[in-house]
Amino acid sequence: MSERLRIENLYKVFAKDPTEALQILRGGGTKDSVFGKLGQVVGLDGVSLSVPSGAMYMIMGLSGSGKSTLARCVNRLNEPSAGRILLDGQDIVPLSEKALREVRRTRMSMVFQHFALLPNKRVIENVEFGLKLRGVAPAQRRKRAEEILSVVGLARWGYHLPHELSGGMRQRVGLARALATDADILIMDEAFSALDPLIRTEMQDELLRLQRTLNKTILFITHDFQEALKLGTRIAIMSEGKLVREGTPQSIVLEPGSDYVAAFTREVDRARLFDAHSVMKAPTVLWRGPNGIVVGGAGGGLLLDQQEHVVAGLGEAQIATLKQTGELPAGRGPYLCVPEGARLVDVARSYRSDHAMGVVDDSGKLVGLLGAEQILARIANLPSPGEAA
Ligand SMILES: Nc1ncnc2c1ncn2[C@@H]1O[C@H](COP(=O)(O)OP(=O)(O)OP(=O)(O)O)[C@@H](O)[C@H]1O
Ligand SMILES: [Mg+2]
Repeated sequence: MSERLRIENLYKVFAKDPTEALQILRGGGTKDSVFGKLGQVVGLDGVSLSVPSGAMYMIMGLSGSGKSTLARCVNRLNEPSAGRILLDGQDIVPLSEKALREVRRTRMSMVFQHFALLPNKRVIENVEFGLKLRGVAPAQRRKRAEEILSVVGLARWGYHLPHELSGGMRQRVGLARALATDADILIMDEAFSALDPLIRTEMQDELLRLQRTLNKTILFITHDFQEALKLGTRIAIMSEGKLVREGTPQSIVLEPGSDYVAAFTREVDRARLFDAHSVMKAPTVLWRGPNGIVVGGAGGGLLLDQQEHVVAGLGEAQIATLKQTGELPAGRGPYLCVPEGARLVDVARSYRSDHAMGVVDDSGKLVGLLGAEQILARIANLPSPGEAA
């Protein structure tokens, strides 16, 4: 995947002259020590990250950790004190105000926590707003706004005023307005945080659904780790202006790397987060013949054809015979195959103790084997069997 946005050593000190603060930070000082010595607030302390094109990139952290400052530096509502922000390889930090306005207008759009709709304008005019700024002709922008309103499920609400809509609907309008511009980067700062839990879940599902077809690069800021896990393809965790952990949701829960991060992961529903791929065991080849391959490992044995597709299961007795005689036994056993992306909650539901369980890729090729032990160990957050504790 190509890189859409890259941030290199970004600092933000809220001060007219950040020189001394930068020196302190670069010399290993912290946000606290800068405040203690200079009375200046550090927003960002040497943040670097890379956002792949099409990512749903989550910025997560406690209040005051610097999430909004980071987002605001990316669209340059905040002036960075040092560092580079590369948009498709071009550093936007040195751009003139005029060039910057152009970038903001055409490349990025922003969705805030509090809808920020124009109260006296109808819903459709709110959605058109970004297009109007871009100089899109009235008829054309009206058509686009109507399209996008129906995408977010508000087709019938275009000619109402914002105050006639519920909070969740207003947030949809905000989302529609951001989507209407066709900007390839969407920055959403706590966009769903003010919504009731049910509406919030609905909006999250909506965003996931939209993203499947829109394939935007989304920078999504949240202080809710569950939300980050649900939506994110990658998560960056911030603390005191620093980026302290970055990775896929599964990798962060598996290896938080610090107590600060571990504290977020404690309540996570592991059965819904982890997939079959993350716990499967590599298959060991036990036998190879002209018309098949037998592999074994966790959860029994499987007979594969030459394309490594599963054709049968082999029970323990049959595996023992095979090992003794070196011959493929006559009997066959039952088996199950699950896709590698299947969540453990679903794997556990389909699990049968008398079936060998294979994990297969998109083409149906076997990539691993799975037993109850691996599934349970991961759900219970134990070191997986066979792994060093
Ligand atoms: N305009 C400003 N002037 C001075 N300090 C600021 C300004 N904006 C933010 N800060 C400070 O920068 C730090 C990071 O703030 P920021 O708003 O980025 O945090 P956040 O992670 O978005 O928090 P929240 O979850 O509460 O939105 C905080 O210490 C905050 O006080
Ligand atoms: Mg914030």
